[in-house]
Order: sequence, then C-alpha cells, then structure tokens
Amino acid sequence: MTELIRFIIDPATRDLHADNERLREAGPLVPVTAEGVDAWAATRYATLLTVLTHPDMTREIQYWDPMERDNAPPGTAITRIVTDISMLNADGEDHRRLRAPLAAGFTPRRIEQLRPKIAAITAELIDRLAELPPDEPVDLRRDFAYPLPREVISEMIGIPREHQDRLHELTDAVAQVSSDLEDGPEVRGALHALLHRIIEERRRTPGEDLITDLITLREKDGGRLSESELFATIDLLFIAGHVTTVNLITNAIGALLNVPGQLDLLRSGQCPFSAAVEETLRWDSPIAYFPFRYAKRDVEIDGVHLRAGEPVLACFASSGRDPDQYGPDADRFDISDPPASHLAFGHGPHFCLGAPLARVEAEVALKALFTAFPGIRAAAPPEELRPLDTLLGNSTRSMPVILGP
Ligand code: HEM
Repeated sequence: MTELIRFIIDPATRDLHADNERLREAGPLVPVTAEGVDAWAATRYATLLTVLTHPDMTREIQYWDPMERDNAPPGTAITRIVTDISMLNADGEDHRRLRAPLAAGFTPRRIEQLRPKIAAITAELIDRLAELPPDEPVDLRRDFAYPLPREVISEMIGIPREHQDRLHELTDAVAQVSSDLEDGPEVRGALHALLHRIIEERRRTPGEDLITDLITLREKDGGRLSESELFATIDLLFIAGHVTTVNLITNAIGALLNVPGQLDLLRSGQCPFSAAVEETLRWDSPIAYFPFRYAKRDVEIDGVHLRAGEPVLACFASSGRDPDQYGPDADRFDISDPPASHLAFGHGPHFCLGAPLARVEAEVALKALFTAFPGIRAAAPPEELRPLDTLLGNSTRSMPVILGP
C-alpha cells in the first residue's frame, strides 16, 4: 500500500486509548494491519467524518481490491462483517430498500413509547440483584448490562420464550460473556440455524414483532427483500441490537464508579443521566474499530492519497478522544460537559438505526441502578479488569461491584 510505518492492531495485546493516541499522532489516515488485513485507519474525528460521508467512499465489498480481498483470512470478525448482505454493506438505492422497512420502528418517538417496557425489564433485573448478598462482588456486565438489551431486542424482534435460553447461550459466546462455548464458526452456524427456525415459526404463527413485519412486507412485495436479505436483517438486528449496548452500559458504570465526583453530579440532579450516556459514548465508545469503507476511485483525503479499492477502518473510539475536536482535556471523563456531537453511532446514511433505543436503554439502566443501590462501589480497580479480546468491541469482560446495603 505504502512505505509508511504500518501499525499492527492486535486486540490481544492492545492498550486501546494509548494505541489510538499514537495512531492519531501518526497522521489523519494511517496504514494498519488488523486481523491480517492491510487497511488505512481513520483515527481523527474530522477525517473519520469525511470518510463516513465522502461520495467516493463506499461500503460495497465489490469495490475492495480483489487481490487483497481474496487474501483476507477467513473466519475473523472483519470477514464476518464485510460479507454480511444486510443494509450495513449496501449503498444508494439498495441501502434505502433494506433500511426503509425498519426505519419507522426505530424513530426516537417510537422508541420513547417502549420506555415503560424497558423500565419493567430493568426493574426485574434490579430486583434479582437486590436479592444477592450486598457485600459480595457481583458482575454487572453479566448480570445487568448484558441481559437488559438482549431481552429488549428479543421482544422487539419476536424471539419466542422457548428458544431464548439456547439463543442466550449462543449469543453469550459471540459476545464473550461467561460461557463454556467459544465464539467460532460452529457457534455462528448454530446461531444462524436457530434464527432460521424462529423465522419459519413466525411465518406460521405471526405476532406483533419485527420478524412478522418483515415477513409480511416480503410476502406483499416479494421482489424487494430476498429471503437471505430477510435473514441477514434479523441477524444484524439481533447482534447489533445488544452487543454494543452491553458495552455502553458496562463502560458507563465503570466510569461513574471510578472517576471521582461524577456519580455525585448525577445523584444531586446537577447533570441528567442522558449526559452520562453521551459522555460515555464519546470517552469510551462501545465500538473500538469497524470495517470497512472502500475507495471507489483514487481519492485524496486530508492530504493522503488512497488508491481505488483500498479499505479504510473506522476508529470510533479514537475519534472520541481527539484533542483537535474535544480540546486538551479530551481524555477526561466529565459529564458536566457532554459533547455536542460524537461519532460513536457513526454518521451519514449508515448512522446507527438503533441509536435511540441504545440511548433510552442506557439511561433507564443507569438511573435504576444508581437509585436502587446508593452504596454501590467498584470491587476492583479499572486496571485489573481484562479488556474484551475483539477488534470491534471496547469494554471490559466483567464489571465487578459491591452493591452495598
Ligand atoms: C450501525 C454503533 C446499538 C442497529 C451502526 C454504526 C455504528 C453503530 C457506529 C455505523 C457503522 C458504519 O457506519 O460503518 C452502535 C452503538 C450502539 C448501537 C455504539 C450501542 C451503544 C444498536 C442497536 C441496534 C443497532 C440497539 C438495533 C436495534 C444498527 C443497524 C446499523 C447500525 C441496523 C446499520 C445501519 C445502516 O447500515 O444503515 N451502529 N450501535 N445498533 N446499528 Fe448500531
């Protein structure tokens, strides 16, 4: 690609925010190798914004240089994401065709109507936590941050109760919470097979849920959504609908418990919970890195020449710490000064469909948790918590706390 120094992004050894600082200092677009694939990394806020909206950048995989594409190691998170045939990897008319049927169900107004339901699911989880011994460590990632968005999205999509346990076991493995299973091709295969079964059942017994809506649309207007696109859409919603929100809730709890004074700002009412959510999205974005945009033709971005077919990795967590955008205190977590904007949900046509849902879930979760447990405190210092071992996700594998009396 170029003779510049190439950085290796390796989740097994990375120190995310320190690595990102080095990448930002190296240039607006930096050559990296991630999961065996050579790409440019867009680490600064302004450059990432340009990449996400540039007319010469596309998500369509056919633009990727075929030599590089064929050499990409199979079975990685990158390969899984870039070959998915959902809206994520479509552009223009195709993208609108795939996204439009769902857009109405995810507007801030429609999601606001779900708030009572989300609050009820949260209250049940809080009740379960309240039954545990108050002075023993409990893992809030596993027992709170994870089940909440999973139950909400399962209900929205229409996952029948009888399949939930198996589905939960498989998604636990994919999301790397405690599980005897490891994420791998078999787990993915089993997850796909189960989702297929659920779609077939919904076809026989329709309900009031997203699977039924999509099936109805497909049967009314068959040419617009193929069977495999229907499946890819459900799969995307299910995975995207909870994995990232788990990280958001976990990261917010960690920041609020560990950065002195922040929780007091919430409890005294000086700052709204929504400010804690937005500041967490900026400061500790749930997504570290996300593949790919490809240059449709030779293009120059911020003085760097990209050749047609080269892929660009979006560095969402890095953009949130960029001092050019957020000033010299960009590394400080401060909910009294939440960002006017951030890129944690992306930008432009692919802006996260589920952003309103994730925001309400996180706000409801934090309010319920910190109200129910006034004596809550961290059970381990942040530097002792192991980070997730994935390229994409940015969070810790656990969030041990003492709930207190
Ligand atoms: C797209 C982040 C929660 C569904 C995206 C993108 C980002 C993102 C950065 C854009 C990717 C790109 O442009 O390359 C997040 C974060 C979340 C979250 C940080 C939680 C804190 C959700 C939820 C749902 C969801 C709850 C669904 C219920 C989607 C979908 C897309 C998407 C369907 C693809 C949109 C498109 O391609 O048009 N998300 N997401 N996300 N997200 Fe989310």
